[in-house]
Amino acid sequence: MSPTRTVAPPPPARTALQLRAAASAARRRNRADADTNPLRQGLRLERVPDPCAFVLFGATGDLAHRKVIPAIYQLWRTNLLPAEFSLVAVARRPYTDETFAAEVRASIEKFSRVQPIDESAWSELAGRITYQQLDFADDAGFDRLGEKLDELDARCGTAGNRLFYLATQPSQVTEIVRQLGRVGLDKEIRGAGWRRLIVEKPFGRDLESARTLNHEVHKVFRESQVYRIDHYLGKETVRNLLVFRFGNGIFEPVWNRSYVDHVQITVAESIGVEGRGAFYEETGASRDILQNHLLQLMTLVAMEPPASFQADALRDQKLAVLRAIAAPDADEVRRNIVRGQYGPGWVGGEAVPGYLQEPEVDSESETETYVAGRFSIDDWRWSGVPFYLRAGKRLPKRATEIAIQFKDVPLRLFRESTGDPAPNVLAMRIQPDEGIMLRFTAKVPGLGLDVRAVNMDFAYDTSFVVDSPDAYETLILDALLGDASLFTRADEVEAAWSVVTPIINAWADSASPHFPNYAAGSWGPEAADELMERDGRRWRRI
Ligand code: BG6
Repeated sequence: MSPTRTVAPPPPARTALQLRAAASAARRRNRADADTNPLRQGLRLERVPDPCAFVLFGATGDLAHRKVIPAIYQLWRTNLLPAEFSLVAVARRPYTDETFAAEVRASIEKFSRVQPIDESAWSELAGRITYQQLDFADDAGFDRLGEKLDELDARCGTAGNRLFYLATQPSQVTEIVRQLGRVGLDKEIRGAGWRRLIVEKPFGRDLESARTLNHEVHKVFRESQVYRIDHYLGKETVRNLLVFRFGNGIFEPVWNRSYVDHVQITVAESIGVEGRGAFYEETGASRDILQNHLLQLMTLVAMEPPASFQADALRDQKLAVLRAIAAPDADEVRRNIVRGQYGPGWVGGEAVPGYLQEPEVDSESETETYVAGRFSIDDWRWSGVPFYLRAGKRLPKRATEIAIQFKDVPLRLFRESTGDPAPNVLAMRIQPDEGIMLRFTAKVPGLGLDVRAVNMDFAYDTSFVVDSPDAYETLILDALLGDASLFTRADEVEAAWSVVTPIINAWADSASPHFPNYAAGSWGPEAADELMERDGRRWRRI
């Protein structure tokens, strides 16, 4: 006879919230343990932010609903936010907590990258959303906001930690920061919680306005409290660029002027201005993409290895690159920088209007929707290596790519070949079809000695089965964790403006080309091709 076994009754089922709280506590214990236990150091630990209130200014706007709110939902859904979390939505329009939560739900249903909506995660998050109607010029409103945050600390355990996210018009940043300072919401009193500020791009519209804005922000917040978002830095493939360069030994020896012929960085978009005509009229491609996304990609390609991945070690190296980029004078702008504006054309089989026919765009606008240029970095590693950057709207496809073209072999031994040998290219596809390609020359099978260029390809979606997070998820989580490495520092922003402002000024002082000068659905103005041809090169066909 087999012995009878007593079976313990199953433990009572725990709610998702209890599980989250237990997970948070365990992660916190792990972290504390790792700080003191040398055997645990170096082990991968899940990172969990401190309890906090996330105060979202401009909460009814497009950016908040398309990007910020879906990212918060995704972080919540995957247990990466603490149980003691509160989302305080701030904007001018009248809503109640309930009516605003209903709008949030609609946005998540529309924009979240994971569908369908997880009902249990949603109902927990919905209970943590409050709405505060606020006119940014209203002192009393900010006083009430301060009281509300204190009350949330007491009721929800948010512990005095506050992240202020400004998803507003750029012109409102100074006023909001001033008000936060007036009511003391910037103050980090020892043991009473941290205070951080996230500011969206564009950060200024030229060097002078960026300096003024930095000055105004620094009157209230210390630089270490400020997180300036350039969402390209949060993209998985952009972060992988650092791993690729500094996690592999074989590329660094050839990553310099002795082996690299030139570098091409492309940010191509097939969309037009998508109902943002008024914004774009003030911005143009040079302020919208060149000053930030393109120059940031260039710094990651060109920077020296940092001593560590601490935020300032990394940003010091990026800053060194930005400061070494030769700012073009008016004559160099005329020769080396091309601007374009799209006219009507066809994109993806659809007839699309030209820029001048877009809503909210001046019918005689001289705003550029395309910019391309040749830049140089005057430092020991890159002197003499041109960096060609281009960005445009209404190009044939959406494609962001960094291509390193290496120098040709010193002697072509296969001259008799009927094939087409070509110099090596390493192309990093940032989006879409994320991956890395190396082009090299190979022998065509057969009795002769024909050679041809072939590609060796790494593709994210076949090598990894996990989904990549959206850039906003990465960046919001980092800011909540106090890691500023993927955010641009004040001096970086100003150094980038020092490169772009002379271009904008030179254009303002000279007659614009005859716009429109490229058809929607083409690869940009002819002058951009001529720029490359003059150097004996050509843009990569992407
Ligand atoms: C934004 C620009 O910063 O980046 C937009 O303001 C542009 O004009 C967008 O469309 C492109 O971002 P992504 O992530 O789609 O490449």
